[in-house]
Amino acid sequence: PRRTRIHHLRELKERGERWPMLTAYDTYTAEIFDEAGIPVLLVGDSAANNVYGYENTLPITVEEMLPLVKAVSRGARSALVVADLPFGSYALGAEQALTTAFRFMKEGGAHAVKLEGGARFAPQVEALAGSGIPVMAHLGFTPQSEHALGGFRVQGRGDAGERLVEDALALQAAGAFSVVLEMVPADVAKRVTAELVIPTIGIGAGQETDAQVLVWSDMAGMNRGRKPRFVKQYADVGGVLLDAARRFGEDVRGGSYPDAEHSYS
Ligand code: KIV
Ligand code: NA
Repeated sequence: PRRTRIHHLRELKERGERWPMLTAYDTYTAEIFDEAGIPVLLVGDSAANNVYGYENTLPITVEEMLPLVKAVSRGARSALVVADLPFGSYALGAEQALTTAFRFMKEGGAHAVKLEGGARFAPQVEALAGSGIPVMAHLGFTPQSEHALGGFRVQGRGDAGERLVEDALALQAAGAFSVVLEMVPADVAKRVTAELVIPTIGIGAGQETDAQVLVWSDMAGMNRGRKPRFVKQYADVGGVLLDAARRFGEDVRGGSYPDAEHSYS
């Protein structure tokens, strides 16, 4: 199958066809999701929690993200690979955003980058898009701003809904190719989706966005902790792995592994 391109995503919106996006942090998951026909893979800075065990996304660095971007790029044969710019790697200005994004594209093999924030980040988006780097924007609840937003809370209720629409329009005008809407009331996400020509990708943003994204470890039950309301769990990979590890342990302790079949004579 051919590589997903940003114009394909725009065409899907024009045709009213929805599409899925998943995070991936390594080659095996990238290969599996690619085979499943997921057209866009996000190497999210959610790797902070899901790979490195941090409490939130703030601590993860470019150096920690890069190996994961490389691994996913190697595994994704058709999917468009988007690399998340971590906290503190783009807020200083267009130059810093370019420096970080060039590393993810050149060293990591990413096809696009994502950054969090509203109209204030239009200069970064414009510089990136103007330098040949497709940019996915991210509005609503933006985890890198957890402390400023006062925790995990729905964003864009009431008057804030209007500002969210304006931010989305500003980022589109700056050259973003898509925008993630996280924890936004469904009617606000619907409005943004109708007003933009670029696709919206919802996570906790209702049914009306052009696409939907989930963190794979939440979606597949690899993350065994508490899950937000918007997560639907499609598998119990954590449970399968727990059982496999337990049975391996039992076999080794009981002497039934390895047997003749798994030994060399
Ligand atoms: O880092 C991440 O996984 C994300 C998605 C949830 C959009 O930003
Ligand atoms: Na992220």
